[in-house]
Amino acid sequence: ASDKTKEVFIGAIDQGTTSSKFIIFSLDGEVISVAQEEHGQIHLKPGYCEHNPESLMVHINSCIEQALLKFEEKGYKRSQLASVGVTNQRETTVLWDAETGQPFYNAIVWHDVRNGPLVDELCNKVGGKYGLYAKTGLSISTYPSATKLQWIINNVPEAREAMKEGRARFGTIDSWVLWRLTGRHITDITNASRTMLFDIHKKAWDPELCALVGVDPSCLPEVVPSSAVYGKVTSKNCPLSKLNVVISGCMGDQQAALFGQNCFHPGEMKCTYGTGCFLLQQAGPTAPEVDPASGLLTTIAYDIDGTVCYAIEGAVACAGSMFQWLRDDVGIYSRTSEIEPLAREVDSSEGVILVPAFTGLFAPRWRPDARACIVGMTFRTNRCHIMRAALDAVSFQVVDVVKAMGGAQKLSVDGGMTVNRLLMQTQADQLGVDVEVSSMPEVTALGAAMASGLAVGLYKDFDDIKAHGGKKSTVTPTSTAEQREAWSEQWEKGIARALDWV
Ligand code: G3P
Repeated sequence: ASDKTKEVFIGAIDQGTTSSKFIIFSLDGEVISVAQEEHGQIHLKPGYCEHNPESLMVHINSCIEQALLKFEEKGYKRSQLASVGVTNQRETTVLWDAETGQPFYNAIVWHDVRNGPLVDELCNKVGGKYGLYAKTGLSISTYPSATKLQWIINNVPEAREAMKEGRARFGTIDSWVLWRLTGRHITDITNASRTMLFDIHKKAWDPELCALVGVDPSCLPEVVPSSAVYGKVTSKNCPLSKLNVVISGCMGDQQAALFGQNCFHPGEMKCTYGTGCFLLQQAGPTAPEVDPASGLLTTIAYDIDGTVCYAIEGAVACAGSMFQWLRDDVGIYSRTSEIEPLAREVDSSEGVILVPAFTGLFAPRWRPDARACIVGMTFRTNRCHIMRAALDAVSFQVVDVVKAMGGAQKLSVDGGMTVNRLLMQTQADQLGVDVEVSSMPEVTALGAAMASGLAVGLYKDFDDIKAHGGKKSTVTPTSTAEQREAWSEQWEKGIARALDWV
């Protein structure tokens, strides 16, 4: 028992699109304790999606307490937790009052499309959807935070008033969480790069971008590196406030997964399967030259020890959320564990194609007007075929992004859905390259936890982090080039229907 109480541990708050988690890891990246709670998705109108910022904090604090209790049950002491990182759903926008601490409006979630008309206006002002790409690395779409914030300012009079008086505070979810926990109004640079208010080359907020969407720069958080001591937890509602632990790492969830996958060298790439699917390729310290028409974004991978690295990103809006829809709204299954067995009951979708364009299509097409469809059904089609078509669709979307990136030698993958071996085999078959699956799917949280450990000296450097990295298993393709060609032709036909709809 004496050894057990000497070890130190790292933790991560992972505030995602559908749930909050708190995970405690060993320095070797083994999950020691985890707690997770789902939060409500508020859909006031079609295309709207909001989260209650207060309830996100309640879930986070509750997960922390539960995970600490499980940690103690394993014979450890709370004081053995040395550092904590934060990782989060990106772009989701909160605006709150510095004086009362109260949000002016719910958090507007990254895939919410209410800002469509504001996006059109902005495109007209700057000469089209690529008009801000050179500065921000982002194509103008409903996705980045800027026009979500603009929507709040335009529609909530108190927010507008507070903005004029310098009382309003803007944040993506990392910023909201860090402000509530530490009392500091900060954001990490990876999250700043998703707002479309940030110049990714100057590495600073940009007054011209702010002016374009009517944002007073006084509401913006201080931008901090991804691995640095931000402070102790001062919020009495948080169990971490009773411990001598620092918050010392923060990255948007996709960048955290890139870090957790140890993609430190240019060209290394990962794909995380969550609510959506996000492929990020490490680009190193010089901003890559990306043709915006490829549908890829340029983003900041991290700022560590004074070096800012960039990444090329292909964002797919809908993956896991399609399965939630199949479960909660269509009702074709009830537990996640049923997905794979149901899909395996059939050998293929028998020509059924499901295009999950529920909120339009993100990379590589960026078509907000696309709508979801299921095509190619016959009387033989049953829920197993639909399930299979849904898994195929996740994989097809990833293939499209890999193609936009110019192909891949192999793909490192993580995220909850990677436990589905059928999906992993389908992915390898459709890509025609090896898929390397992390045996520990919580790579996002691990990335943030390791960034926090690096800041407090628990790891010496990137090599040391890599030496503590997790195991992977390889899934090898069994398909022929002709099969891949035929599959992609069929998928393209489905895509054509989804694009034609409106
Ligand atoms: O950009 C949105 C992304 O950060 C959401 O990630 O894991 O909640 O799907 P996830």
